[in-house]
Amino acid sequence: MQILFVASECAPFVKTGGLADVIGAVPKALAPLGARVRVLLPAYPALSAQVAQGAEVMALDDLMGGPARVLAIEAQGVDLLLLDAPHLYDRPGNIYLGPDGRDWHDNWARFAALSRVGAMVAQGALGDWAPDVVNAHDWQAGLVPAYLAEAGTRVPSVVTIHNIAFQGVFGPEILGQIGLPGHWHSVDRGEYYGGFSYLKAGLMACDRITTVSPTYARELMRGEFGMGLDGVMRARRADLSGIVNGIDLDAWNPETDPALPAPYGARTLGRKAANRDALMVRFGLEPGSGPLFCVVSRLTEQKGLDLLLEAIPTLLARDARLALLGSGEKWMEDAFSGAAARHAGRIGTVIGYDEGLSHLMQGGSDAILIPSRFEPCGLTQLYGLRYGTVPVVARTGGLADTVIDANPAAIEAGVATGVQFSPIDALGLQDAINRTCDLFEDQTGWAAMQRRGMKQPVGWNSSAQAYLSLFRSLG
Ligand code: ADP
Ligand code: GLC
Repeated sequence: MQILFVASECAPFVKTGGLADVIGAVPKALAPLGARVRVLLPAYPALSAQVAQGAEVMALDDLMGGPARVLAIEAQGVDLLLLDAPHLYDRPGNIYLGPDGRDWHDNWARFAALSRVGAMVAQGALGDWAPDVVNAHDWQAGLVPAYLAEAGTRVPSVVTIHNIAFQGVFGPEILGQIGLPGHWHSVDRGEYYGGFSYLKAGLMACDRITTVSPTYARELMRGEFGMGLDGVMRARRADLSGIVNGIDLDAWNPETDPALPAPYGARTLGRKAANRDALMVRFGLEPGSGPLFCVVSRLTEQKGLDLLLEAIPTLLARDARLALLGSGEKWMEDAFSGAAARHAGRIGTVIGYDEGLSHLMQGGSDAILIPSRFEPCGLTQLYGLRYGTVPVVARTGGLADTVIDANPAAIEAGVATGVQFSPIDALGLQDAINRTCDLFEDQTGWAAMQRRGMKQPVGWNSSAQAYLSLFRSLG
C-alpha cells in the first residue's frame, strides 16, 4: 500500500512541536507492516542543508509566483519529497514566522502551494508513483482534499488534526489566487466567520478525519474544545476517529540515550539518581526533600503554565524543586525567569529550545508537569512514562488517555502510572502537586509506579496498525 503524507514539519529535520515527531515516526512504523509512506514537505533551507541533493521528480514553471520542483530523497529512514520553491520557502529563521515574530505575510500562498502540489502528486504527477491514499496533516495541508475535489479525482483523503487551535484562516479574496473557485467560500466548504479556513475546507472535503487521541476526538465535538469547528466535527462524527500518538522508542530509550550521563532501565532505576544530580547542577538547584519536577514545553496559553506560576508557593512549601525548559510567549518566559531569580536553588529555568537537554530532563527528573488546558495528544508524558518520570497531567485529550491516575483504587489495583487533575485550574494543579509530593514520600510505592510506567507500551505498534486499517478501508 502506498501513502502520501503532506505536512509542514518532520523530525529530525525540521521541528517546532509534536507534529514533527509524529510525521517522522509514523512512516517508519508503517514500513514493516507493508505500507510505504512518502512525506511531502517544503524544502526549507534548514531542511535541505541536512540532506543530500535529491533527484528531481517533478517541475512547475509557476507555482504561486515562481518556479518550483519536487526533489525525492531518502534521509534517516524517511522517504522525502521536498517541494523546492525558493520564492516561498527560502528564508532564514522560523518556518512559520518572520523576524518580527509574526506569521509570514504570505503563509496563505506558502501552504496553498504545498497542498496544491500534494494534490498533484496524489493524482499521479510524479509519473511512476501515485499513492492509494493521501493523509494531510493540520491546516498547512488542509487544502489537499479541496484541490482533489476540484480536480474531480477520487483519490481518498484523510485529514489529521494535531491541534484545532490552528485553522489557517485568511481573507476570502485569496481564493482566486490559490486557484479555487469562489464557491469554496460557503458555509458547507471553507467559510469561517466571514474568512476562509484551510482546515475547515479540508475537513469538509476529505473522506475521513483523524485526530491524535480518542478523548480529543470526543472533545472536538464540544464548544469548549472545537474552537468554532465543533459543529463541523459533529456533522462529520461518523468519519472521525482518534488514534493515539506513540513515540520513537529508539530516540527515546533511557538505556541507550547518549544525552544521559548514566543510562538506566526499569531494573537499574537506581542509576537515575546520577542523572538527577547532573540535572540539578545544570539548573543550579540545591538538594531538597521533595520531588524534582520538570517542564519541557512551549510556553503558551494551551500548556496552562500560567497555572504553574500560581502554584509555585505550593512547590516551595513542599520543598520540591522545579527545572523548566521552554520558550514561547515573552511574558511567560519573563515570569519563569523572574521566579528562578527569586527562588534560586529551588527553581531553575532555561529559556530556549534544546533537544539534548530535553532528554536529560526526562532522564533526571522525578516527575513531569503538564497542566495543559487542552492537549490533543501530548508526547512529553509518554517520554516521561518511558523514563520513569512520573507524569502529573491535566485530565484532557491524550493526557487523559495515556496516564492512569494514582487514586486509592488504582494504587490498590496496582495500575497507577501518574497523577491527573481536574478541573484544570490553579487549585487543581496545587492539589495534584501536593498529591505527588505525598506519593513521593513512599519511595517503595513511587518506584513501583515508575517501573509500571516504564513498562507501558508507548511505541507506535498498535497505533500504526490503526492507521493502516484506516488506509486499507479507503485505498
Ligand atoms: P506540542 O506539539 O503541542 O508542543 P507535544 O507534547 O506533542 O506538544 O510535543 C512537544 C515536543 O516538543 C516534544 O518532543 C518536546 O520534548 C519538544 N519540546 C517542547 N519544548 C521544547 C524545548 N524548549 N526544548 C526541547 N524540546 C522541546
Ligand atoms: C500538536 C498537539 C500535541 C500533539 C502533537 C502531535 O502539536 O498540541 O498535543 O501531541 O500535535 O500530534
